[in-house]
Amino acid sequence: MKKGAQKNKKLDQLNTHSTSNENEKLTTDQGLRINNNQDSLKAGDRGPTLLEDFILREKITHFDHERIPERVVHARGSGAHGVFKLNKSLKAYTKAKFLNNVGDETPVFVRFSTVAGSKGSTDLARDVRGFAIKFYTEEGNYDLVGNNVPVFFIQDAMKFPDLIHAVKPEHDNEMPQAASAHDTFWDFISLMPESMHMIMWVMSDRAIPRSLRMMEGFGVHSFKFINEEGKVHFVKFHFKPKLGVHSVAWDEAQRISGVDPDFHKRDLWEAIESGTFPEWDFGVQLIPEEDEHQFDFDLLDPTKLIPEEEVPVEIFGTLTLNRNPDNFFAETEQVAFHPGHLVPGIDFTNDPLLQGRLFSYTDTQLSRLGSPNFHEIPINRSVNTVHNNQRDGHMRQQIVKGKVSYEPNSIGGGCPYQAMMSEGGFVSQEERVSGEKVRRRSESFVDHYSQAKLFYNSQSAPEQTHLQNALIFELSKVTIPEIRERMVGQLAFIDKTLAQKVADKIGAKVKKLKEPNQSIPADANES
Ligand code: HEM
Repeated sequence: MKKGAQKNKKLDQLNTHSTSNENEKLTTDQGLRINNNQDSLKAGDRGPTLLEDFILREKITHFDHERIPERVVHARGSGAHGVFKLNKSLKAYTKAKFLNNVGDETPVFVRFSTVAGSKGSTDLARDVRGFAIKFYTEEGNYDLVGNNVPVFFIQDAMKFPDLIHAVKPEHDNEMPQAASAHDTFWDFISLMPESMHMIMWVMSDRAIPRSLRMMEGFGVHSFKFINEEGKVHFVKFHFKPKLGVHSVAWDEAQRISGVDPDFHKRDLWEAIESGTFPEWDFGVQLIPEEDEHQFDFDLLDPTKLIPEEEVPVEIFGTLTLNRNPDNFFAETEQVAFHPGHLVPGIDFTNDPLLQGRLFSYTDTQLSRLGSPNFHEIPINRSVNTVHNNQRDGHMRQQIVKGKVSYEPNSIGGGCPYQAMMSEGGFVSQEERVSGEKVRRRSESFVDHYSQAKLFYNSQSAPEQTHLQNALIFELSKVTIPEIRERMVGQLAFIDKTLAQKVADKIGAKVKKLKEPNQSIPADANES
């Protein structure tokens, strides 16, 4: 067992798949002992290599196929195993078993990531950080696929491919690698008023964390808790680092990137290796279903947070990371999170961004991991046993015995026929849904600036200066004057002094824009 590792069911399961090459003799993939791993088989000392050299062919063929596609977003990541401990019961709010009994410990695997950069980019880029947790519960895997910022850029999944195409390297020259300082990103953002709240966070020090151990985690969307009696609460998830939230300054970030692009990865790894286990308090904001409309924003709008002064975060558990992965590819790279991996007692909401995510993750993982059987990869396996009628497909590993793989069935070997319902399984929360079929957003999503202002005003004077300087740095890299002007025009809706200071430094006029309105396209948003 690795240093600091605790015994838990997931680690036991992983151990059945792990092996070590230490002091072992080399073999082929077929288990055949290899006599010479340095020389290929040739026709004579100086002759050509023989096609029959199956040992050479196997070695090179495997090497040729080592790469899989990196994640389309969040490609660069660092992972760790750990444990989630419940310190206070949430039974009154959710029937999710792992949140019911004080003292219960659930194994977890956590992956932190940057969003925009490729797998080989730097850790210290100005960017949002992913904070994805897989809870291996007795009722199946529950994934909380969050970020270190509590809101998002856009309100509807329809815009996600556009957002990512704008933030990724430009498609003619594949630049820039990591930072967001470029024309396409700011073009899109300046045309997207709903992104202004998130932009304030991304230009703040929050987007250059000192350490992955010193970041908050947020579920971002509103989710639902359902208790045994069927009572529903909206819930926002929070993880608060015991070490506090800390950032580096921008010039430090740039220097660190040059000296050690693996700075965050190394810091996390070394902390865990030395037994200084990172810890987070797990908290929730709870809103009874009947209070859904008591806020001056829509709970389904992912560009809004619920101010903690209005609904305090109550702490219920502790997340501890206590073991580094044994193999980066097998674990951190092959882990597959999905916001739709739920357990009874937790459900999603109609947030139109979250609804699109529910489609995206399995879809992308089918091509990233290459087979519908990726749930059988050790890191993705549930600790609960899996029984269903799915079968076959590339790389199938489970050997299901018996004759039948259909339901209903009346002959042996299959799961017993469940005429209608099975006691205790997952049931989607019943919800009354009505309305016209429309391709538009609710008017309740229209206020894009109030929370951006709140965030800016909540910053201390030095933090505000950092935020201004970030905007000046970023926008000074934008080569198209209209984009700079439209962007400072957007900033003027948040804070006129901020807009003027940025405009003065980048030589732009503060463009007067029309107050945005959901019913007009954002690019018609200029006066
Ligand atoms: C990863 C799509 C919004 C957090 C991904 C991946 C895709 C994706 C395709 C790669 C998954 C993989 O290859 O395994 C989307 C879409 C979104 C969206 C379509 C909006 C419609 C969000 C939001 C959050 C988020 C709002 C945060 C609350 C993450 C995280 C990962 C990720 C943390 C990395 C997971 C890991 O470490 O493997 N997303 N995403 N995404 N997304 Fe999203």
